[in-house]
Amino acid sequence: MKRILEKAINDNRKWVKDGELASYIPELLNADKEALGICVTTLDGEEFFAGDHNTKFTIQSISKVITLMLAIHDNGKDYVFSKIGMEPTESAFNSITNLESNELKKPLNPMINAGAIAVVSMIDGETKEEKFNRILRFAMKITGNDSLAINEQVYLSEKATGDRNRALAYFMKSMDIMEGDVEEILDIYFKQCSIEINCRDIARIGAMLANDGVLPWNNQRVLSREVTRIIKTIMVTCGMYDGSGNFAVHIGIPAKSGVGGGIMAAVPRRMGIGVYGPALDKKGNSIGGIKVLEELSRELDLSIF
Ligand code: DON
Repeated sequence: MKRILEKAINDNRKWVKDGELASYIPELLNADKEALGICVTTLDGEEFFAGDHNTKFTIQSISKVITLMLAIHDNGKDYVFSKIGMEPTESAFNSITNLESNELKKPLNPMINAGAIAVVSMIDGETKEEKFNRILRFAMKITGNDSLAINEQVYLSEKATGDRNRALAYFMKSMDIMEGDVEEILDIYFKQCSIEINCRDIARIGAMLANDGVLPWNNQRVLSREVTRIIKTIMVTCGMYDGSGNFAVHIGIPAKSGVGGGIMAAVPRRMGIGVYGPALDKKGNSIGGIKVLEELSRELDLSIF
């Protein structure tokens, strides 16, 4: 396995030059555009690494999967999906026009920014600190990493430049899609996106999903089978945004990307995969990460289809 991972990293480093770092969150421009790394966590708890797997980066949209798990846990799936759709999108992850013009009259799905911000408004907790701490504690549990913390610079950078997200959030409040204090909800969202992780952390989240909600390293159940089934399905249809169809055809694994450069993937009953490559394609997905996953899917026959 180690040899296959190393080959996949080396074969696909050439693609990163075609991508760009995310620049709309200025702090993300400090990443090394050339970086590319991977970790695989198997369901018997074995871990394999290659490339820049130790580099820390911010979780960004991969956190949307974590908050969706909590929101369904707290409210049940029927309530969550009464406020947010479960349909794929052909628009960018932060599209504003789509929110008003789509037929559903609610965010199309919980993976785009609008849907993810509405998800935050459904997380239980008395204060915004308590809500964020529940998200962070749950992230620690499913990564097995007690030292997770936010990257303060990225958090402040997001908060200072997040006007598009503010626009989405205030519009949703006006439409009764969302209740509560909009600035508090956004603050939690900016913080959740700024949690710092590495390839192993996200490979482990993938492994938990691949294992139907049971942590492979200690056999603890953290989610019901039903919730993990819903999460993986949404990852297939919406996890790579308007690139989800292409990703399903060429790779065929439930996955979620983030503009920090991470992709978290769950191969049912086989393994979790975490890849990192901050050079992004036009849709905001890691360009090298996708190529690495494509090679692995081919070599190890990972497509679920
Ligand atoms: O809200 C944002 O735009 C970012 N914090 C997260 C977006 C993101 O990661 C999109 N993913 N590829």
